[in-house]
Amino acid sequence: MITIQKADVGDAVSITHIHLKAFKNFFLSSLGEDFLKFYYTCFIKNKDSVVFIAKDNDKIMGFAAATAICKGFNIALIKQNIFSFSLLGLRLLVTNPKALVRLARNMTKKSDEVQSEEDYAELYSIGVAPEGQGKGVGKELLSRMEQELLEWNVDKLSLTTDYYDNDKTIGFYKAMGYSVLYVFTAYPKRKMYRMIKKLK
Ligand SMILES: CC(C)(COP(=O)(O)OP(=O)(O)OC[C@H]1O[C@@H](n2cnc3c(N)ncnc32)[C@H](O)[C@@H]1OP(=O)(O)O)[C@@H](O)C(=O)NCCC(=O)NCCS
Repeated sequence: MITIQKADVGDAVSITHIHLKAFKNFFLSSLGEDFLKFYYTCFIKNKDSVVFIAKDNDKIMGFAAATAICKGFNIALIKQNIFSFSLLGLRLLVTNPKALVRLARNMTKKSDEVQSEEDYAELYSIGVAPEGQGKGVGKELLSRMEQELLEWNVDKLSLTTDYYDNDKTIGFYKAMGYSVLYVFTAYPKRKMYRMIKKLK
């Protein structure tokens, strides 16, 4: 039976492993296990963000991470953890400088071609282990996240997702009530949708 619960810091390693399996060829995965573990730990600890996990008996099958305030969230996260982010940044500078540039350029998750002043919460990540996909786990995670954000008095939840070769995920979001707000290009040349749902 699947149960959904809030993640605590001890779940960051399992969340990282699910992320690496669900997002195999994605940019964030290329930054490595240490980076992801630290990133999700920050999300779990931050007062403006929340992470849920889906458990099948004792095994974590999926997770969802969101923040109630999207504007300036990444910058705030870095400021609060400046020492650790600096160390990770230095390591990337040596091992993968292009990734560091890409990370910096995508910090605000929008592009110059779109002017939108809309305010919303943001789903940063949702992933289900490949063997657990298509069984309703993603739906339960996202519904629980929406319910939590409603309790935080959030009006709208938004997310970004790839434009190309992504029918399954786009179908999932549409089935969950999300519609396209705009199309944009993330750095370097990644065409993406921003989708949004009114929660109340
Ligand atoms: C996207 C993802 C989180 C969805 O989770 P999931 O557990 O596989 O999805 P669910 O089984 O809960 O599906 C929920 C609903 O979405 C819809 N859906 C799912 N797959 C779909 C598809 N291929 N086409 C159309 N609709 C689809 C269905 O309506 C389904 O509800 P139903 O089963 O009652 O009909 C998961 O597949 C995943 O981790 N993918 C890889 C990582 C990823 O791309 N994450 C999103 C990044 S933006």
